[in-house]
Amino acid sequence: MKHVLSSEQYTRESLDELFDLADKIRNDPKKYSHKLDDKIIAIMFYEPSTRTRLSFETAALKLGAKIITTENAAEFSSAAKGETIQDTVKVIAGYADAMVIRHKSDTSAMDAASVNKIPILNAGAGKGEHPTQSLLDMYTIKEKKGRLDNLKVAILGDLLYGRTIHSLLKLLSLYNNIEIYGLSKEAFSLPQEYIDMLKSKGIEYKKCSSFDELPKDLDVIYHTRIQAERFEGDFGKEEFIINKEVLNRFSENTILMHPLPRVIEISTDVDDDPRACYFEQAHNGLFIRMALLLQVLDKA
Ligand code: NCD
Repeated sequence: MKHVLSSEQYTRESLDELFDLADKIRNDPKKYSHKLDDKIIAIMFYEPSTRTRLSFETAALKLGAKIITTENAAEFSSAAKGETIQDTVKVIAGYADAMVIRHKSDTSAMDAASVNKIPILNAGAGKGEHPTQSLLDMYTIKEKKGRLDNLKVAILGDLLYGRTIHSLLKLLSLYNNIEIYGLSKEAFSLPQEYIDMLKSKGIEYKKCSSFDELPKDLDVIYHTRIQAERFEGDFGKEEFIINKEVLNRFSENTILMHPLPRVIEISTDVDDDPRACYFEQAHNGLFIRMALLLQVLDKA
């Protein structure tokens, strides 16, 4: 049974395969429009989402699949009555051919996959991982920079609770000559386990405390929102805001990424800058998620 649970399951080769398939779908969508005609995809979101849910639903529909969906499973599914994820999957496996899940528990996707009856796609698990986001992030970096080796990447925002950051670091660590710079409020620093993971792959993590400490020739600035729903208490607002003046300190080849939704960390005055690519990034998610659905259902 194929699942998409963690970025850890990917290699350089499997990323190439996925990106090739995404390119093929993008260049000839008609060819793929009936590949999943007889399939039903269950979309179970226990946490809010715009892009991930709608892009998975669109991906399924564009491949000819039908969807069954609950946009607020925490409130409207039997989880509200205390049903476990495993029981939910056992039931859904009788209706659908694959299930996409977003849930506040870090182990939710693994728990769902442990039933091993239908492919599970992790669409965000607590503060743990969000592998499909990082796959589309890497696809976007490859498209924009033409390579995945030899990159200087700065990660900003919520490095503690940001699951997109966690999944992205695991994928970046597969490549050669990667430099990672971190800039966040102290309370949202990158957990030691990720610093150790990078170190074990020969990547030294460079923690910075101001924009001045970041190299001017960064290839990628990846900003994220403070995940206020994941903690209690007030740690204040984002301090490191990218606006026109800040972005102009960096090279004309530095791309600016964000998984979205953005709050205040990127000001709208940079949206028209050719280096800002967060909306393209979101669009790329569609092709990656189509490719992932084909792969897990053995229709690639
Ligand atoms: C992210 C998430 O849900 O982790 N959103 C997304 O899927 N693009 C980022 C966020 O919510 O801040």
